[in-house]
Amino acid sequence: MRYGHFDDERREYVITRPDTPVPWINYLGTDEFFGIISNTAGGYSAYRDARLRRLTRYRYNNVPPDYGGRYLYLRDDATGEYWSPTWQPVRRDLDAYECRHGLSYTAISSSLGGISAQALYFVPPGQTLEVWRLRVTNERPEAAEISAFSFVEFALWDAQDDATNFQRNYSTGEVEVDAAGGVIYHKTEYRERRNHFAYFACSEPVAGFDTQREAFLGAYRGFDAPLAVQRGASGDSVAHGWSPVGSHHVRLTLAPGQTREVVFLLGYSENPRDDKFSAPGVINKSRVQPVIDHWLDPAAVEAGFAALQAVTGDVLGALQVDTPDVDTNRMVNVWNAYQCLVTFNMSRSMSSYESGIGRGMGFRDSCQDLLGSVQLDPARARDRIRDLAATQFASGGAFHQYQPLTKTGNDAIGSGFNDDPLWLVLGVAAYLKETGDATILNEQVPFSDGGQATLYGHLQRSLRYTLDRLGPHGLPLIGRADWNDCLNLNCFSETPGESFQTTENLSGGVAESIFIAGLFTLAAREFADIAYHCGRPADANSFRADAEKMTGNVIEHGWDGDWFLRAYDHYGNPVGSAANAEGQVFIEPQGMCIMGGIGVGNGVATRALASVRERLATPHGIMLVQPPFSEYHVELGEISSYPPGYKENGSVFCHTNPWVMIAEAMAGHGDAAFDYYQRINPAAREAISEVHRCEPYVYAQMIAGADAATHGEAKNSWLTGTAAWNFVAITQWILGIRPELDGLRVDPVLPSAWPGYSATRRFRGVTYQIAVRRRDAPAEPAGQPAASHGHVPSQVTGVIVDGQPIEGTVVPFAAPGATIRVEVIIR
Ligand code: GLC
Ligand code: GLC
Repeated sequence: MRYGHFDDERREYVITRPDTPVPWINYLGTDEFFGIISNTAGGYSAYRDARLRRLTRYRYNNVPPDYGGRYLYLRDDATGEYWSPTWQPVRRDLDAYECRHGLSYTAISSSLGGISAQALYFVPPGQTLEVWRLRVTNERPEAAEISAFSFVEFALWDAQDDATNFQRNYSTGEVEVDAAGGVIYHKTEYRERRNHFAYFACSEPVAGFDTQREAFLGAYRGFDAPLAVQRGASGDSVAHGWSPVGSHHVRLTLAPGQTREVVFLLGYSENPRDDKFSAPGVINKSRVQPVIDHWLDPAAVEAGFAALQAVTGDVLGALQVDTPDVDTNRMVNVWNAYQCLVTFNMSRSMSSYESGIGRGMGFRDSCQDLLGSVQLDPARARDRIRDLAATQFASGGAFHQYQPLTKTGNDAIGSGFNDDPLWLVLGVAAYLKETGDATILNEQVPFSDGGQATLYGHLQRSLRYTLDRLGPHGLPLIGRADWNDCLNLNCFSETPGESFQTTENLSGGVAESIFIAGLFTLAAREFADIAYHCGRPADANSFRADAEKMTGNVIEHGWDGDWFLRAYDHYGNPVGSAANAEGQVFIEPQGMCIMGGIGVGNGVATRALASVRERLATPHGIMLVQPPFSEYHVELGEISSYPPGYKENGSVFCHTNPWVMIAEAMAGHGDAAFDYYQRINPAAREAISEVHRCEPYVYAQMIAGADAATHGEAKNSWLTGTAAWNFVAITQWILGIRPELDGLRVDPVLPSAWPGYSATRRFRGVTYQIAVRRRDAPAEPAGQPAASHGHVPSQVTGVIVDGQPIEGTVVPFAAPGATIRVEVIIR
């Protein structure tokens, strides 16, 4: 069952009924000012940091769900009937409803009783404000008197404090309202230590306003039945403490067929510390007023929206493909790329599942996000790399998380997730391959515990961090956890409520991770290529030797016979072995060891992949572990705390699936790789939305596994490393368009049913027009298979660049600005 459809031309997902299984959300803003918005206008906004600069309030885990939003009410002043044109919060049945989630904007349209409305929400590029453009049309044969009310509820900046510290916060709230009532300023704590305020402005003369929540709602009433709306008149209330809100009341007289437009702005502004006031206690508006005046003009709104579309369109222009599969095209051309950008921006901070309070920027998460977004925004990728490296310690270790506003590491979580530093190598490698900008390697970057080194030095220390921490089998010690946050082999927790990851209570000298071993070999080889490329062959050789040695250790101590082991626990017992009663096979080391080149070409990799297919694959994707844990194992940690089939305990943890897709592609198995891709591709799951339940246009972190009662149900959509890795798997390995240090490689591993595909890729200033086709006539002389990344022969039998055949599959560089044609013939 579907709740909408893709509009490919307009790059929108169109939701055609408001009661989706869960709120289907979108993101507004791409930079400093951002927010989430649901298909019924729920959500909230923040400036730079979803916890510390929260503009509006949202009620997580509320009933009904998705409360707090960018609310609009319409009221027929002749009858007193009122409704929300976005369905929530009034939830009156509408005659028509449609939500279009586009790239960083959302438009919700509806009609009731001959009054139609459209609300467009977006953040103009580079601005610290969001625009709500409301259009109301009278489709009745007679004139209509309609009242429109706007509504936001301000959060008192620190979202955590806002949700808990009521003894203080019920007394601190302050607002200012301009003489005409059109601009409402939220200035809680502005008088003393803050030099920022929020504002909510309206383009039309107002009949009234409210800034005190209870005056607007009325006693004991909810957002669905505000008193001001019911009676058709605002209270002109000024908040003193309690809960400041912003609401405007605009009266619209509409002739038959007439449309009126009202623009609302919700914005954030700062003043210099010594220039905050124009009179005692009064906000100095000299800086913000021109901004408000500008954006309240409908022509400016039009131009701002066009500018937004130009920016997003340009970003997506980095790669556009035309394959035989519509769901692949949708994801690669629009939605997966967009999700990569959003995930890069937001890390894991705000979504329907991330409250904006919890985790700042995750070190490993942000490093992996780079893999999917570097081609879309290389400049910001560069900044991010520096921020991340600056949270490293001189040991090479890293803070597991940092706050985006302060860019300092989060002491409460600390360090000791032993995979963390290695991801930085992958992130930087992706940046270098995409941009060729080797200057970044020579930049000095501080360590968070003092001292500094070049970025190149940071990467060396990242790798050394693993080598300095090897266990009894010569395999990397796991620390508190590796990629799998829930495999806590040194944190034995028996106290309710305690964090599984930070309760590190064992010496940590025994538990080893085969996953980290795979990641290390991959990172060491990537680094060796970089070192070689910048004229440091000795470094290259030494890390290659370390990768070889690690490979040997994995084959000797990390291979269970049919698959890679997962780990050794604190007692030295194997985890992820046929010898275990539960948790026999884990996905992570299968994908990652093969990506690191371990066992490729000698049958080990193909055997591991066959085991994945036999033991872990379901129609809804590949599960993380089988059989899942049915009991709590204190020596394994959080993984065994989840009910079987959920989260790390045997769900289809989508982040890991692309590793297997890549491994299959490396083994030359185009059908298997693409088959796995389609199983979790959200667009390909659209028709089973009643099962999948999350948005069909973005990946979710997990899909319940075969052991769950709700097998196939997705959760934790949007902010997940799944976005970046699936983008890498489909674009770089299946379609095979892979940036490398020496140029753009085109080495597809396609499903056998595909005759080919075409693509346009912007890479280092050059536009590559790529056409891949299968050599049709069997009589055609068999070309020499090109040398490939791994040890299997490539599908490619010939590459022709601007009419000239080339050797191998790496297209040589061309002058920036050039457009070159690349024809690729495959077997
Ligand atoms: C979550 C975390 C990520 C971790 C994964 C597996 O997605 O954000 O860092 O690797 O879970 O536990
Ligand atoms: C919880 C989640 C896991 C996530 C971790 C991050 O353990 O289950 O998926 O990675 O929190 O701290």
